Amino acid sequence: MSRLNFKLEATASGSRARAATFTTLHGEVQTPIFMPVGTQATVKNQTVESLKTAGSNVLLANTYHLLLRPGAEVMRKFDGIHKFMNWDRPVLTDSGGFQIFSLSHHREMNEKGARFLSYVDNRPIMLTPELSIDMQKAINSDIMMVLDQCIESNASHKDAKAAMELTHRWAKRSLEARGDSQQSMFGIVQGACYEDLRKQSADVLTNLRVNGEGFDGLAIGGLAVGETKSEREDFTAIATEMLPENLPRYLMGVGTPIDILEAVHRGVDMFDCIIPNQYAQRGVVFTSLGNFQMRRSVYKFSEEKLDPSCDCLTCTNYSRAYLHHLMKTDEPLGWHLLTLHNITFYHRLMREIRMNILNGTFLDFYNRKRKELVMSDE
Ligand code: GUN
Ligand code: ZN
Repeated sequence: MSRLNFKLEATASGSRARAATFTTLHGEVQTPIFMPVGTQATVKNQTVESLKTAGSNVLLANTYHLLLRPGAEVMRKFDGIHKFMNWDRPVLTDSGGFQIFSLSHHREMNEKGARFLSYVDNRPIMLTPELSIDMQKAINSDIMMVLDQCIESNASHKDAKAAMELTHRWAKRSLEARGDSQQSMFGIVQGACYEDLRKQSADVLTNLRVNGEGFDGLAIGGLAVGETKSEREDFTAIATEMLPENLPRYLMGVGTPIDILEAVHRGVDMFDCIIPNQYAQRGVVFTSLGNFQMRRSVYKFSEEKLDPSCDCLTCTNYSRAYLHHLMKTDEPLGWHLLTLHNITFYHRLMREIRMNILNGTFLDFYNRKRKELVMSDE
């Protein structure tokens, strides 16, 4: 059983969507949930206060970055990331496997771990499952992720199988390395775009036990790395079908609002993605009227609020013309205000999803919202 005390509250009819709650060392989490990305112990351009007004509850931080800077000693000095960044709600840490795969050029994988050169001082570092978990203990995150090997979604069956099997051996070592820590830990299903591998991976990780204890949740990794939208949806469904009902399911690195809605429909509970931040940085906002590019000159004289149906600090206080001006002049306040709005938009979508699951109206909501979001996506 999960040390998160996962409680399924409702499942939708005509859909695999579900609403649940679980309890971390820093409070309760209601799912489906979106977790903003706070790689460097900060969600870019936001304060913890602005994140709370946006409705954020769980933040994601990255072991890879925090290991290199500020390092384990600083984290230990503060008893972890919560006091360090002044965030008193839950934190989930990714293990570093994916960041080495996607960010690091000089990397080598072997049985022991992943070797790469630090981007801070070019020092070679061997990231093993044991070191990743040790660092996640220093960070004192509420949810730790196992070290995994993520490969391209178009990898051959042979390569995908080898990476998956290595991920399973590392998953066992990660669980062993947890020791008597009270932090929770999730396994990560891999297997690229191969149905047999995805099923096998879900099965192996679901049944893995160390000293009688298994994972507190299971994640689906290796998606949003170059596969098509329909492959992503199919492999999400294949994985969730194999995962136990009584553990949270986390789809890593996904996605746009429509991707998230589709994945909830297929039984996913948790999400993280950099898209709301990245889009805001480029001037793109999600609104109830579709996506806007705020750099466009059509907004130059607009006295209208950004999104009339949003109650975030940006939408209640500033005109489209002002936001357009801030983006054209590359002012940091523009990035702050647009990011705050986008994150608020994501959290509102998740609240609507959850409410509709609890009210028994999810399928109608899904069919309606899907059309609206697909239109804004184009
Ligand atoms: N973030 C997005 N995809 C992945 C993945 O496959 N593994 C890990 N560890 N993090 C991810
Ligand atoms: Zn807003």
